[in-house]
This record gives sequence, C-alpha cells and structure tokens, in this order.
Amino acid sequence: MMISADEYQAFRDLLNAKTGILLGDNKQYLVSSRLTAYMKELQVESFSDLINKIKQPFNEAILQQVIDRMTTNETLWFRDSFPFEYLLKHILPEFKAQNKSRVNIWCAACSSGQEPYSIAMAIDEANNGVMRGKLPLQIDIMATDISSRMLQQAKNGEYQSLEVTRGLSPQRLQQYFEQASDNSYVIKPSLRNKVRFSTLNLMTTPYRIGAQCDIIFCRNVLIYFSAELKVKVIEALADCLKPGGYLFLGASESMPPAIKAFEMVRCNPGLAYRKR
Ligand SMILES: C[S@@+](CC[C@H](N)C(=O)[O-])C[C@H]1O[C@@H](n2cnc3c(N)ncnc32)[C@H](O)[C@@H]1O
Repeated sequence: MMISADEYQAFRDLLNAKTGILLGDNKQYLVSSRLTAYMKELQVESFSDLINKIKQPFNEAILQQVIDRMTTNETLWFRDSFPFEYLLKHILPEFKAQNKSRVNIWCAACSSGQEPYSIAMAIDEANNGVMRGKLPLQIDIMATDISSRMLQQAKNGEYQSLEVTRGLSPQRLQQYFEQASDNSYVIKPSLRNKVRFSTLNLMTTPYRIGAQCDIIFCRNVLIYFSAELKVKVIEALADCLKPGGYLFLGASESMPPAIKAFEMVRCNPGLAYRKR
C-alpha cells in the first residue's frame, strides 16, 4: 500500500510517541511491507485511515497489532555468549560470597523468550554441575516486552525447528525441550516455570516492577530509540537496580557519557555496567 510523505510523517510520530522506536527518513517501504496485509484485514484503504482508527477514539487493540508488526524481534539463544558466561562465573558467585540468598534478574526486552530462557538454562546447568552450591539459592527471572505477540510465544515456550537451531546445542535441545510437532519444539515446564513474563513499555518510566533488581539485561532494543530516550531509559533502569547490581547492554551498544550511575566492567570479551 502506498504511503504519502505526510502519512509517513504522521505514522512515524505516532510510533515514536507510543514505543520510542524512531524510524529513519526513508523507511516507507518497511512500514508498507509490514502493515499492508493487516490493513487489508482491517479493511482500511490508506495510512491516514489507519492512523485515524488508532487515534479517534484511541484504539489500544489496533495500536497493539501495529506495534506487533513494527517491532524488530530478532533474537537467538545465548546471544553473544559472554553475558551468560560472565553471569555464571563472576556475578552470581560474587553475590553468593556477599551472602545474598535471593537474586532478581530482569530481561527488559525479551522478544520471544530466548534470552531469559538462556539465562534459566545456564543457571540450571551450573547448579547441576561444577558450580553446585556456588550460586545464590533463589534466582528469580522476570522478562518483559512491548509486543504481545512475542510475549505470547515466549509464555508458550514453543519454537519452530529453525528457531531452535539458532544458538542452541543439540544437548540443550534434548535436555530442555520436547518435540511438539514435526516442525516445532516446546520448552519443558520445569524450565518454563523459571521465567515470569509480562508486558512493559520502556517508554513508560518509572518502571513498576516490584522488587529492586540485581541484574538487568536490556539488549538490542535501545538501538531503535533516540539518543535522549536512550538516556532516559538507562536512567530509569538504574533506578531499578540495587547498588552493585549489573546492567548488560547489547554487544554493539554503548553507555551514553551523560550517565554517571555506572562503572564499566570488562568481561573479556564484552562489557557490563555495575551500578555505583
Ligand atoms: C531485537 S529484539 C532484542 C531481543 C533480546 N533482548 C536480544 O537481545 O536478543 C528487540 C525487542 O525490543 C522490543 N521493544 C521495542 N520497543 C520496546 C519498548 N518501547 N518497550 C519494551 N520493549 C520494546 C521489541 O518488541 C523486541 O522484542
């Protein structure tokens, strides 16, 4: 479906205001390719109609459908591997040495769940291997995202064959999944029950997440935001972290110099940020 310059500007502003996602100047093709099928389903004839349907009166359900289609949900198991290794080898043993009996981990843009389930698998393996007794007793994992479609998949814990090949070893596939059909696998309930999923829009600060966190993963989402929003989000994340808690950003993301709440920690490879 064609999108005029005015419609593109209006759509961009709306998406940015609701999600923080900042579309570049020439992404008309992206918007059109992601939304045309849905617009036909909705029987709207133009982008102006779609925007009106969302705004007047405000229609949360249509907005959510649009968000589901406009977010980039690319993810994989054990992405970049170093955060999971650093977590097990350094952070959790450090917390144990500090006599912390309970640790809260938050994945703040979890997509279809590969990141929080990778954390849960890594901890489970450690507790059943050489790290037995060296980690805090209770580790809670909470995972949030703005996309209801991604959260539904994450909660179901069901993945296509292609998805389980991306970063998951055959041993882990065998240990933590059951075959659901010729073409799909589902996470075993024992692992699925270790992660709590809920909706959270990173635009809406301060974050109401209950208890303060010890570790936050906020990876590969801030790249879609403006520089100002990135600072606002990281400051709000810092407010949710206990002193001495850790933040992981994506491997290609950096801490804005304006933020003074963290000290950089070298994980070799990769970086983490420790709250002062
Ligand atoms: C590229 S995925 C990253 C997933 C995972 N953290 C990783 O690194 O593999 C980005 C995720 O951010 C989510 N997202 C985008 N805008 C968001 C917002 N304002 N609040 C919360 N999540 C958002 C998207 O729905 C998407 O699932």
